[in-house]
Amino acid sequence: MRGFGGLSFSMWKLGNLEINGKTVLAPMAGYTSFAYREFFSEFGVNLTYTEMVSDMGLIYGNKETISYLPTKKETVPVGIQLFGSDPDNLKKATQIVMEKTSYFDFIDVNMGCPVPKVTKTGAGSALLKDPKKCGDIIRAIKSVYPGPVTAKIRLGWDDKSINYLEVIKELEEAGVAMIAIHARTKKDLYSGSPRYELIKNLRDKMNVPLLVSGNIYSLDDAINALEITKADAVMIARGGVGNPLVVHQINYYYENDERIEDASLEEQVDYCLRLAQYLIEEKGEEKAMLIYRSIAPKFFFNLPKVKTIKTRLANELRTYKDLENIIYEYLQELQK
Ligand SMILES: Cc1cc2nc3c(=O)[nH]c(=O)nc-3n(C[C@H](O)[C@H](O)[C@H](O)COP(=O)(O)O)c2cc1C
Repeated sequence: MRGFGGLSFSMWKLGNLEINGKTVLAPMAGYTSFAYREFFSEFGVNLTYTEMVSDMGLIYGNKETISYLPTKKETVPVGIQLFGSDPDNLKKATQIVMEKTSYFDFIDVNMGCPVPKVTKTGAGSALLKDPKKCGDIIRAIKSVYPGPVTAKIRLGWDDKSINYLEVIKELEEAGVAMIAIHARTKKDLYSGSPRYELIKNLRDKMNVPLLVSGNIYSLDDAINALEITKADAVMIARGGVGNPLVVHQINYYYENDERIEDASLEEQVDYCLRLAQYLIEEKGEEKAMLIYRSIAPKFFFNLPKVKTIKTRLANELRTYKDLENIIYEYLQELQK
């Protein structure tokens, strides 16, 4: 238990990388681009992933697919998450990644995505139906890439086929370097409570670092998930959208045994504007602000008259000036 104090308590290793903390930014398609990863690095996140990258997209030289690959040194170690169903194609995709960039720290394989477009090709969570293939994929990638190869899985396909222990065994035998588990089945999609009790003490049964994912919205959610599972770190996914300070709150607690307060409205406004600036730099103002219609409203919660600002941000955002004006007018409204 606690009491070792300071960094040593939180330290764990991914390959040769020393990771000093408890928070990992979960891969999220449509979100975790370079801008989003760099923004979260300011809050002390310990590890990040790209959005999922299609093996076939890489093999066919699809420009958009290639644009997901990191192109410069990042503040925090980053993993490239690949998705695909065939070990040989994933191996080829890894070789392409290695030709195109050296700015990454590990390769991860998506074995959890529930989207039909992905599962009908046998990729994502469909792989869980074939644990041996999960192992073959890790072996194939490791045959060409010397760094850490990791996997992100779910509990199983549905309640009748909860087989994460079998999948983990195959992955470990194949030499996986870390496993992240989203504590839901494919059938659960993203709803309902994640089933942490089902994976109680899971880390004790494993030889490699474990990350847990599912409804980590607060420090208490993280404490609960880590205590039950004994995982090395939690993944921040939807809970970090509009509340990046949760990363710092978790790490600070595990380093100092103290809680820090939630962000003030002033701080939330600052975070909201800052992430917008990062996204604009990356994607240009028009595209960034369109994407921001679904992100900006999340920065405003537990506040009076909050519906007005949420609705306006979701519908009216076109420029950075709009963002500033809508926020400014809301702050004026609060003064009344
Ligand atoms: C919009 C969205 C996109 C996601 N994209 C990916 C992805 O590309 N790869 C992946 O492994 N998981 C992806 N996930 C799953 C998350 O990484 C995470 O495991 C899941 O959302 C559960 O955590 P939460 O309940 O805290 O959101 C995505 C989730 C969301 C909501």
